[in-house]
Amino acid sequence: MPIIKKRAWDLPESAVTPEHVFLNRRQILAGLGFAAASGVAGGSLFSRAAHAADDPSAELYPVARNDAYQVERAITPEKVSSTYNNFYEFGSHKQIASAAQALKIRPWEVKIDGLCDNPQTIGIDDLLSKVQLEERVYRHRCVEAWAMTVPWSGFPLADLVKLAGPQAGAKYLRMETFFDPEVASGQRASWNPWPYVEGLTIEEATNELAFMATGIYGKPLAKQFGAPLRLAVPWKYGFKSIKSIVRFTFTAERPVSFWEKIQAAEYGFWANVNPEVPHPRWSQATERLLATDERVPTRLYNGYGEQVAHLYKDLEGEALFM
Ligand code: MTE
Repeated sequence: MPIIKKRAWDLPESAVTPEHVFLNRRQILAGLGFAAASGVAGGSLFSRAAHAADDPSAELYPVARNDAYQVERAITPEKVSSTYNNFYEFGSHKQIASAAQALKIRPWEVKIDGLCDNPQTIGIDDLLSKVQLEERVYRHRCVEAWAMTVPWSGFPLADLVKLAGPQAGAKYLRMETFFDPEVASGQRASWNPWPYVEGLTIEEATNELAFMATGIYGKPLAKQFGAPLRLAVPWKYGFKSIKSIVRFTFTAERPVSFWEKIQAAEYGFWANVNPEVPHPRWSQATERLLATDERVPTRLYNGYGEQVAHLYKDLEGEALFM
């Protein structure tokens, strides 16, 4: 994961049109008989229209905020976080937002299998009807040393684990992203071990902080954030928070993640945030906040030690922080 020097929010004003302006333009274009799908409208206008049309969950949002998960930092503006993304399926740079609009998020089926009593394939809207959605404000710390603070909407991963009913032999939860090189040009790079895979121990997956995000900023997840279902594990480096998940597998074996396969010496299984353990190629002592560019000290477990430190007792021999 190279650090890209150019800041994505250095966009021309025209590329970051505020939402009310889009919407007004949409109404005007609709009045003129332009269909969004005509492709007449460029960039963000097209994506907004497409997003509203193909996401039937829109009416579920906004959801009530759970005040137990508050952050002292300012929320990163949506126009910044939604135009500076890591989603290698759509390119190995940060400006993938418009390419990601090609992802079709309905129908979207999620397979739950492996060592569990209730294996099933469930449509995303069915899954949404079985869970209680809430909003949580979390910090997010990328291994590349940038950070953001965003309001996710979603449900505890523990609820999905409960739905599956893991068997005694299940020690890990393996998660997998979609694989469709026709829409995701990055997946045509056959030297990478697609699909993207990540994993957690069952104890991590059922920790109160592990969250399945289905929305952000009071709306369904925009595609560049990993619609329609992505993980948010805020005490770990961001690459653990896998996007656009299609499969959850309960397993006895520790899954090998996408990044671990590519470079095991730099990206491990645990990947807990720690300012004192540098990445082999850069320091992790500080982080850069998106939008303000402020440099602030990195915190152990990204500031979530109270909730998660106990998970790593007696694991001192493991590479817990890479
Ligand atoms: N999930 C998939 N499927 N593909 C990816 O490239 N990138 C990861 C993670 N999840 C990634 C992914 C990394 S490195 C980070 S930092 C976060 O997504 C970025 O999330 P954001 O773009 O919503 O900020």
